[in-house]
Amino acid sequence: MDYRVKDTKLAGGGRLRIEWAERHMPVLMRVREEFSKGKPLSGVRIGACLHVTKETAVLVRTLKAGGAEVYLCASNPLSTQDDVAAALVEDGISVFAWRGESSDDYYWSISRVLEEKPQVMLDDGADLIATAHVKDMLDEAIGGQEETTTGVIRLKAMEKSGDLRIPVVAVNDASSKRLFDNYYGTGESSLHGVLRCTNILLPGKKVVVLGYGHCGQGIAKMARAVGAHTIVCEVDPIKALKAYYDGHEVMPSLRAAEIGDVFITATGCKDVLTREHFMRMRSGAMLANAGHFNVEVSIPDLKSISRRVRKIRENVEEYELEDGRKLYLLAEGRLVNLVCGEGHPSEVMDLSFSLQALCVKYLMENRGELESRVYNVPDEVDRRVAELKLETLGVEIDKLTEEQQKYLESWKLGT
Ligand code: ADE
Repeated sequence: MDYRVKDTKLAGGGRLRIEWAERHMPVLMRVREEFSKGKPLSGVRIGACLHVTKETAVLVRTLKAGGAEVYLCASNPLSTQDDVAAALVEDGISVFAWRGESSDDYYWSISRVLEEKPQVMLDDGADLIATAHVKDMLDEAIGGQEETTTGVIRLKAMEKSGDLRIPVVAVNDASSKRLFDNYYGTGESSLHGVLRCTNILLPGKKVVVLGYGHCGQGIAKMARAVGAHTIVCEVDPIKALKAYYDGHEVMPSLRAAEIGDVFITATGCKDVLTREHFMRMRSGAMLANAGHFNVEVSIPDLKSISRRVRKIRENVEEYELEDGRKLYLLAEGRLVNLVCGEGHPSEVMDLSFSLQALCVKYLMENRGELESRVYNVPDEVDRRVAELKLETLGVEIDKLTEEQQKYLESWKLGT
């Protein structure tokens, strides 16, 4: 078995972390039980490009329990938990991931996974699927799945330009993913990431959230919950209005730049904070990104106006501008929750990764019947994951009566 990780001797610590995650992912463990019995993925080769965390380990072990062979690489050069990667190698998983990969290492690992001719590709950001298309390594591919908003946007662009050559399930867009992982998961873990690397006091701070999709909404809500003064910047009028009615201050980013203490980008777009913003910021302002790629805070712009850069704390770089002001970039502009912390809590990844596992089964069951386009998660899978989560939480809900069901299905009954 081939693999490349930082140090296999770290496996003991990784094993404990995975055990902890397994205790907090009851739905995925239920899926694992089912998979262990039925072996629905028997012999399926899965290539996964995901953040190599304890939660991903629980997913990978579940896929393996279902009979799959899994090849894993990282979806971000800085998010790999090296002890978890080592523990997975001990489990017989081919892992090609370590924290601190260079760009060449990163793409080498992706190519190494593609060499195994995966039939199903699990992606987080679409680098695996995009690279498979660019390198024409799709011969045995049956389908793919995408975990995050940025990846879905990329894959829809591939579909629109006619370049997508496999069916892909947009796991990100399922209700039981987006409403919980993106909102609560990103909200809590991003603030946690900021706090962990800076140890600042958030109450009273002006926290500027750029982007008010599900992730931005979660971040702003959490920031306000701890007593921060929240400002939201948006380009979409509907989202901006929602932010306003949610009680946040809304203003253009150039104005927010003048007053913010902490800036957190969550747009999925590039050049959200640029030279123009930096030139207006107060000394001491902190810059963090919660979007998938490190393009939201323009690091080239920041470098171009700085006379000195130094690492002042773990995951914090101090940029001293020509005029003496100091700006602090967290996590090198990469995902602050995964670089400075452990990513989303296991409880919420339980939903996302149960969807991933069940969607692999769906892709295999529908092999050859799907077109090369981006599919939504089937409704029954989406609902089943939510139902299982409620069940594991011990929460019961009502059922529609037959009469109510009929009423909802009929258009004839009015006042
Ligand atoms: N994305 C966000 N949080 C994550 C986690 N804990 N594991 C894997 N992917 C993630």
